[in-house]
Amino acid sequence: MLPEIDDRHQELFRRALPFLRTRHNAVHTRVAYGEARWLLRRHPDADESVVLPAILLHDVGWSAVAEGELSTAFGPHMTNQALQRLHETEGARIAAGILAELGFAQPIVDAVVAIVDGHDTRTGARSLDDALVRDADRLWRYTPAGSRIDAQRFGFEADQHLAWLERNLDAWLSTPAARQRARDYLDEARRSAPQRPGGTAQRAGSGR
Ligand SMILES: [Fe+2]
Ligand SMILES: [Fe+2]
Repeated sequence: MLPEIDDRHQELFRRALPFLRTRHNAVHTRVAYGEARWLLRRHPDADESVVLPAILLHDVGWSAVAEGELSTAFGPHMTNQALQRLHETEGARIAAGILAELGFAQPIVDAVVAIVDGHDTRTGARSLDDALVRDADRLWRYTPAGSRIDAQRFGFEADQHLAWLERNLDAWLSTPAARQRARDYLDEARRSAPQRPGGTAQRAGSGR
């Protein structure tokens, strides 16, 4: 079941949805929003008035990338860094427009735009709010929905995919809370993975 969008963010999400039609982004955004709320409960110093709009809008810029080019712009087979960067700069532009239309205060708009513009290509987080958005976005990969979708679109066997997630966990996630949550997701995925007679997990999503 997908996380609910809080009443106060419904209008924002509704405005974002037309820009989230590719790359399973509507599902990705809802799942990442749920992860952000979970992280915010463990980080009371963070500013949820920035983090939650930022996570809802962080990937609206993928709408500017042609469907046929998406597979080159993210994931383990990424070859086109310029397109990955484009989704950030277009995302920042689109996010600024949506937030302004909805009357968000300028300091919130500026903070959200600064996070969106670089959320994938920046090497590190600039602030706690930035770190929580980045971690919520990347935690998606470890969630049941994200893990299933990614394994299928990246062409991974289930066990190969889990190994890839485990190998990158500390590099992708920065807060201890997010790292622990990712480990918990991995443990759960391993417990529930169907096993072949030889002990190897089946291909992700096969026959389901
Ligand atoms: Fe992104
Ligand atoms: Fe994302």
